[in-house]
Amino acid sequence: MDPEVLKKAPLFAGLEDEAATALSSAMGKLYLNKGDVLFHEGDTEDRLYIVVSGKIKLGRTGSAGRENLLAVVGPGQMFGELSVFDPGPRSTTATAVTACELRTLEHDELIPWLTDRPEVAQGLLGQLAARLRRANDVVADLVFSDVPGRVAKQLLELAQRFGDKRDDGMHVHHDLTQEELAQLVGASRETVNKALADFAARGWIRLEPRSVTILDVERVERRAR
Ligand code: CMP
Repeated sequence: MDPEVLKKAPLFAGLEDEAATALSSAMGKLYLNKGDVLFHEGDTEDRLYIVVSGKIKLGRTGSAGRENLLAVVGPGQMFGELSVFDPGPRSTTATAVTACELRTLEHDELIPWLTDRPEVAQGLLGQLAARLRRANDVVADLVFSDVPGRVAKQLLELAQRFGDKRDDGMHVHHDLTQEELAQLVGASRETVNKALADFAARGWIRLEPRSVTILDVERVERRAR
């Protein structure tokens, strides 16, 4: 039985059951422990990955050894497609933030699907387009937004992916350390912590280890603009 989350992945969008089963049976299974590095920035390997469960962080290391996180991907999301379509070194390092179950698809297995099934190519292009939009937003935010604004935006983004609506607000179990959260915002840990503490003091959020509850979504949304 395929996990439901796999069928909801963009690669499978629009495929009827029989084709979806054929595609998923062409995939390999991979299990990672928390902290395992799946590949390093610069590696040459061209498999595509889909997350079934868990979270993977995609990061780069700057010249001064500073880490920057480009994204944290979770169930249903794919990564590793850049090296499939534009053969070249991996653009990020992929590390398991939690224990993960992944599906893998070899480059040579994927190509016939893209040629024979336009739905699969469309699903992939849809995710690529969404990623480009997001990357443009991130660049604009780095230029135009202050750190608290970027922190607010990241919290909302994490909530979209990992949020769970509860009576007192949106519980977001992101599994990230404060350092990783700062790397995702692209600012120092001190500045990001200050912004989080300020949001908490205003009653907009409640901080918990590796998670946060957004108590006042509207205020956080306004701060993100
Ligand atoms: P690839 O370069 O093969 O390996 C690293 C992967 O990280 C890359 O493919 C993308 O799937 C993913 N990735 C790179 N940049 C971003 C980004 N800005 N947002 C989300 N995912 C990204």
